[in-house]
Amino acid sequence: MRKRIFAANWKMNHGPTAAAGFIHQFRSRWVKGDAEVAFFPSALSFAAVRAAAGDPSPFKLGVQNVYAADRGAFTGENSAPMAKDAGADYVLVGHSERRHVFGETDADCAAKCAIVERSGLTPLLCVGETLQQRQKGETSSIVTRQLREGLAKLDQIEATTSVIAYEPVWAIGTGQNATPQDAAETHAVLRRALRDLIGDRAAEVSILYGGSVTPANAAQILAASDVDGVLVGGASLEVESWLSICSA
Ligand code: 13P
Repeated sequence: MRKRIFAANWKMNHGPTAAAGFIHQFRSRWVKGDAEVAFFPSALSFAAVRAAAGDPSPFKLGVQNVYAADRGAFTGENSAPMAKDAGADYVLVGHSERRHVFGETDADCAAKCAIVERSGLTPLLCVGETLQQRQKGETSSIVTRQLREGLAKLDQIEATTSVIAYEPVWAIGTGQNATPQDAAETHAVLRRALRDLIGDRAAEVSILYGGSVTPANAAQILAASDVDGVLVGGASLEVESWLSICSA
């Protein structure tokens, strides 16, 4: 009943030329299955990715960030209505790099999720604890708070159409992935938190795992209970390794 999603977060990699080249190569070799494949290129590469994906695109497309206003004097920012107009389906909200490098708060995430939903797009809300928080036994309380506060401005229908990603901060770009057991435990915590918010509809929300997913560990992680897909950084940057993950 839930969608399985393979999401590639390219972060600040692949300019328009490289991004288009990747999509052409990937498309020519990828075998479409039931799962959804989504790309989150840089905003500058978005149009090139969309053009290379074709019309209709066999992939979902997303942007990595938006500002929480429709338009205005916000130099350097992009809005959710602009992302919609450009052809996006998804917007990443609250990625750990946004939270920890750029100081985004749960309140920022709530405002962004709201404007994303109201622009007709799907927020992919990222949550995850730092190593220090994990060592103090705070994982469940941190991710529950991030989920509740991030979705706080959505109604039940909107919350049901959102997608969640559990990305432990200590596992991002470190080569140290969570074990399938770690992922299953925290995904169960998130599913319970969703149930508190939206009742039985919690079963419809896809929860992805992210953090050092590779071709070598993807199948095991995807087999963990309540793991509905993966959000991948480094290993989504090469066609070969992304193809391998998408067929896991
Ligand atoms: P890595 O796959 O490079 O660890 O990054 C994960 C991530 O942050 C995806 O959003």
